[in-house]
Amino acid sequence: MALNRPSHGWRTVVQRHRRTFLNYLDTERARLSSLEVLARDLTAFLQNLIRTGDDAIAFWEAVPRVISDCDNQETYELPLAPAAYSWLYLLDRYARTWYALEHLFNTACFPLARYGVNVLDIGTGPGPSVLAIGEFYKHLSAFGTVMQESAFEQPCRLTEVELSWLNNSFRGHFREFARRSFEGLTLISDLNSIDPREERRRLRERLLDEEVWGANEEAQLIHRYRFVVISNFITNPEKLELFEVSLRRILSDLQPGSVVLLIGGSGGHYPKLQEAFDRLVFESGLRLRVAGTKVRSRVADTEVILTAARTIADHVVRLHPMPRDVSISVQPALDGREPWGGRSSIRAYRRNARRDTGARNAAHLRARERKAEIQVPNEETGVEFNNVPKSTDE
Ligand SMILES: C[S@@+](CC[C@H](N)C(=O)[O-])C[C@H]1O[C@@H](n2cnc3c(N)ncnc32)[C@H](O)[C@@H]1O
Repeated sequence: MALNRPSHGWRTVVQRHRRTFLNYLDTERARLSSLEVLARDLTAFLQNLIRTGDDAIAFWEAVPRVISDCDNQETYELPLAPAAYSWLYLLDRYARTWYALEHLFNTACFPLARYGVNVLDIGTGPGPSVLAIGEFYKHLSAFGTVMQESAFEQPCRLTEVELSWLNNSFRGHFREFARRSFEGLTLISDLNSIDPREERRRLRERLLDEEVWGANEEAQLIHRYRFVVISNFITNPEKLELFEVSLRRILSDLQPGSVVLLIGGSGGHYPKLQEAFDRLVFESGLRLRVAGTKVRSRVADTEVILTAARTIADHVVRLHPMPRDVSISVQPALDGREPWGGRSSIRAYRRNARRDTGARNAAHLRARERKAEIQVPNEETGVEFNNVPKSTDE
């Protein structure tokens, strides 16, 4: 691959082109066209997957569990939980991730790298974020070709971290069906198994034992992430505690220019949870760049999302009627009387060349807030509209 390095640093190149790129995405209808295709594919895939009365019963059984019990790992063991989750959330969260990426670009906090970006998506589920990220980088590379700006030619390599094998198998089958393959895709099942420094050390020793030429260089290549995405995964204080050690191992290993994107809810216990997450990230030496910007699907997105949701629901109802408990929670949103889709709060952190201490981070954040350079809470991308009954991870 050609050497891909801007002469004035990655942030400068993003700053210089951000408006043109965001206009380019609009002109190309990039988000909307890819959402339309994804909606069409998801509809056909679920229609194909749910074929009998028994499938329909299993689907309807999974819906309330996915809505109200998604912090419970047993939910993801229900046979049609990934299908129910995708029906409720995949398209809307795809759009929200897309807006989060646009926001990162607009605030020049979008990760780029010399040979393309290694992305680590923690708690991938059926994969709304990875689908959006893969597509977004494809558009960026196409833009780079149009603009003859090689710094934007950014192949992205995805590493998905997902514990539920039903989710993993669902993603694999769906992407095969929708012909959305990702080159160099890696799957890790348990977040708690990731220990970048230790794994590099072990690999190096093994390769040295085997007298492999270039053992050091080869070992250095593993777990080198430029972009870590954590979407609807840290949903309560217990989860943060459970994953704290692994998150510290991963975050403290990130190199300058790396970005962490946290997507989650905004109300209830979330502000406190985000504060605790901030502390953990600061202690790992990263700096807060986006603090609580809200993203949600726009009206045009909702039309596409809702049409798909209704078509899928009609199909399943033909096989087995919608039970009353499901109808109570989703019918108002399906009818357009209540919102479908939710709102996410996003936070982004960047590793600077100089490692940041917690104190320096806090001082920096206050200074930036004073200058109103960063997005303050309650600012939104997109306009108000519909909402599927909120899941417990929001
Ligand atoms: C609420 S879902 C979020 C899915 C997706 N990121 C989104 O934004 O919609 C959380 C996911 O984390 C997965 N998960 C839970 N514990 C995990 C672990 N230790 N390692 C990897 N994935 C895990 C669950 O199986 C579930 O699919």
